[in-house]
Amino acid sequence: MERKVLVVVDLHSHVLFGIDDGARNMEESLEMIEAAEKAGIRTIVATPHLKNYVLAPEKTHENYRMLAEKIKGDNIGIILGFEIMLNHLLEKAPDVLGKYDVGGTGYLLIEIPYTNYREQSFKMLDDLLRQYNYRIIIAHPERMGSGFGHKKAISRLRKMGFLIQVNTGSILGFYGEGTRKLAKYVIENGLADFVASDAHRAESYSWHEQAYASVVKWSDEAYAERLFRENGRKLLGNKWFLYYGE
Ligand SMILES: [Fe+2]
Repeated sequence: MERKVLVVVDLHSHVLFGIDDGARNMEESLEMIEAAEKAGIRTIVATPHLKNYVLAPEKTHENYRMLAEKIKGDNIGIILGFEIMLNHLLEKAPDVLGKYDVGGTGYLLIEIPYTNYREQSFKMLDDLLRQYNYRIIIAHPERMGSGFGHKKAISRLRKMGFLIQVNTGSILGFYGEGTRKLAKYVIENGLADFVASDAHRAESYSWHEQAYASVVKWSDEAYAERLFRENGRKLLGNKWFLYYGE
């Protein structure tokens, strides 16, 4: 029997080689892509870390082109995005961020630093949303430690209009029991918009099926479908309101 395609879109992955702490070379990128395809994924958004402008944009685009060329004709495609670290530099030059969106969709994938400066981070995010009109996905807030990694902060982010991406590894408890419980709360309460791999190595792609089953258990099949595939597909189709706010 043919295996059911569970995922289709992976919105957050460090599959692009030679840029960050993800794939170290082309071979590892290809291993990850093969594992993703086996997990039912058909589109991977490569989201290398963008921190303090240390990333070399030319090299990123060059490596992306090489990788995309290599897998041309395969059953899986790759789109370029970035995982942007929210920090003071971004606060000083927020207008450049549009160049680093998810595959030309206008959405930014933003990671919040492990910080206690909660109100300051909320303000920076709010400015990006309302002053600069960026559409923003918050990467794995359930992993964000004391500053953001708790129920109230995630509920507040969602009410403010941010979309929430949860990691498969969080759902399976690979970052600890506290993170797993928080991921469960976020899903049970309908606060998540996407589940993604945040894969740094090929093995991360073996987690999808089990993570999907947990989401079905904590919620239902329809919500799991939205989190693992429908919302990602809509996003890449450039429809910007999924279910904004409530
Ligand atoms: Fe990441």
